[in-house]
Amino acid sequence: MRITIPSRIGFGTAPLGNMYRAIPDDEALATVDAAWQSGIRYFDAAPLYGAGLAELRLGEALAAHPRDQYVLGTKVGRLILDEHESTAERDLGEKGGLFEYGLPNKIVYDYTEEGTLRSIEASLKRLRTDRLDYVWIHDPAVDFHGDNWRAVFEEAMSGAAKALTRLRDEGAIKGWGLGVNRVEPCELALERADPDGFLIAGRYTLLDHEAALRKLLPACETRNLGIVVGGPYNSGLLAGGTHFEYQLAPQAMIDRVARIKEVCARFGVDIRAAALQFSLAHPAVAGIIPGASRPSRIVENQTLITAPIPAAFWQQLKSANLIAAHAPTPDEVAPAL
Ligand SMILES: NC(=O)c1ccc[n+]([C@@H]2O[C@H](COP(=O)([O-])OP(=O)(O)OC[C@H]3O[C@@H](n4cnc5c(N)ncnc54)[C@H](OP(=O)(O)O)[C@@H]3O)[C@@H](O)[C@H]2O)c1
Repeated sequence: MRITIPSRIGFGTAPLGNMYRAIPDDEALATVDAAWQSGIRYFDAAPLYGAGLAELRLGEALAAHPRDQYVLGTKVGRLILDEHESTAERDLGEKGGLFEYGLPNKIVYDYTEEGTLRSIEASLKRLRTDRLDYVWIHDPAVDFHGDNWRAVFEEAMSGAAKALTRLRDEGAIKGWGLGVNRVEPCELALERADPDGFLIAGRYTLLDHEAALRKLLPACETRNLGIVVGGPYNSGLLAGGTHFEYQLAPQAMIDRVARIKEVCARFGVDIRAAALQFSLAHPAVAGIIPGASRPSRIVENQTLITAPIPAAFWQQLKSANLIAAHAPTPDEVAPAL
């Protein structure tokens, strides 16, 4: 597979950018340390996460470790300026206010070749390293760009994708793709460029996977491209939280989770284990990157990915139409963890 995530579980650092709440520095650093101690060696960052804050914190926490011992991914498509802005009034499309507690630096979109190289330079500084392994083009999709998203996508294909293909071909990075919350741009990118895979968040989860299963994941499997599953808890709802898609969850999703939980209770399964293991079971999935802002979560997630789940549990979810009948489940596929 063209994307490789060590031990198939990494750490997503969006929460370290003070997503939803102001996280003290020591708690953020302790969370990365907990990930390292538990054996996690893939870290996903982005300039967006707290306007550079998550990358700064990750860079500080990883500085103690030799660079060849971990795999690092970040994103391009947004530049962080020295100029400040009101964090509450940032235009984050459907996800307004998400990083209200992050740094006040102004965030601007830039999907050009030149902007891509500038973004990488700035990320390397914040991350205190001289190289990145994977680079994802961040959010050229409807949830951030509304009706204009196709024009933005085209800009990203002729700008960022070109720059990243060149960096990959020169050996400066190991691979690139899109980092998005939507399936459609990934399908389009397969027609327009030669990505190594995709970081797709919230769209191959226990709660939401139909669209990705139709075309994208089979196409990736055939081409040996890797999918990194971001937001395997759909931003919290599948882990006991209240968020779906980074907003308060709609009632229909709350009801669906309640129905899944009834099946979980019958089989003595923790819904979090079912969520993580479901995402991991598809052969196109290179790995999952649950996000967390507390060290305790990391240890729990490591245990949850190997918690035993009876085959009958998955069959029950299928017969109750709670997951797609053709979705690969862990009892059918035995992923090497
Ligand atoms: N466009 C993109 O490229 C894109 C989009 C979205 C996400 N991503 C990536 O995917 C990563 C993961 O997504 P996410 O962090 O947004 O959502 P997520 O992994 O679906 O869920 C994170 C939430 O789950 C909670 N949680 C984690 N482990 C838990 C456990 N064992 N028990 C109870 N609660 C638990 C966390 O709570 P606490 O904070 O309280 O620990 C946090 O609120 C991001 O950090 C980012 O790296 C990429």
